[in-house]
Amino acid sequence: MILDGKALSKKILEKIKIYIEKNNIKRHLAVVLVGNDTASKIYVKNKKKTAEMLGIKSTVIELPENTEEKILLETINKLNQDDDITGILVQMPLPPHINKEKIVCAIDPKKDVDCFTPENVGKLAIGAEPYFYPVTPQGILILLDYYKVPIEGKHVVIIGRSNIVGKPMAQMMLKRNATVTICHSKTKNLENIIKTADIVISAVGKKVVRCKMVKYKSVFVDVGISRDTNGKLTGDLNWESDFNNFDEVLSYFERITPVPGGVGPMTIASLMLNTLVEHVSILSLCTELFLE
Ligand code: GUN
Repeated sequence: MILDGKALSKKILEKIKIYIEKNNIKRHLAVVLVGNDTASKIYVKNKKKTAEMLGIKSTVIELPENTEEKILLETINKLNQDDDITGILVQMPLPPHINKEKIVCAIDPKKDVDCFTPENVGKLAIGAEPYFYPVTPQGILILLDYYKVPIEGKHVVIIGRSNIVGKPMAQMMLKRNATVTICHSKTKNLENIIKTADIVISAVGKKVVRCKMVKYKSVFVDVGISRDTNGKLTGDLNWESDFNNFDEVLSYFERITPVPGGVGPMTIASLMLNTLVEHVSILSLCTELFLE
């Protein structure tokens, strides 16, 4: 049974658009893109296009690959001080000569729609309310809740320990009373650990998981995106080695997110929800959706 992120994302975006129009809401998202990373350029273009479609103003600040750290810090400071700007997103990855930690520390936590700053990450870690929840984990939770996947008491195994997905996902799952294990590239006996999971969240970006490594009728959330040898988009699940077609995969799992059309669109919807956050409780908007 599919966890249809594309369909749910569409519903959420439609609600946001109506909400913005009805209440004449003015929001302005600034996206900073440094360098020429092809994937980042596509992500940024999609974010801008989606924001504009909803009536959210969006400015992309493109800086060259050789931008000095000092210049990037100045750019962020200007955005912090600009009252018209309500959200700031610095697209990752940054070029290697720039200290990523220094940059995220410079963002005003009240405009930190990614939940990257120490203040927001720290609040998340102590179980307090950050100004914003991190977009991908928040999108995954909205998707699981929409499909009424139980979380409390379940064993959630997260593969990947990134600041963007793995670590905040673990915090948010703990807050929902799941038992959480984080695995990564140095984890021993990965297969034995994955086998004990009720929910697997894989955020690696390589085809590292085979279906038969995962317990029958568990839930699989595939965050990874890469291209196979034919250039086709694929997730972390190497389902072709165990099954002949995706229908067989669907019947093996209790629930599964497709790639594309699962976590990706939910991440965009979640970012758009964050740009509204002062105006609308994400929880109440989603409850409204879930009751439909
Ligand atoms: N690069 C990949 N994912 C993300 C994200 O969620 N936010 C930012 N800022 N950069 C990213």
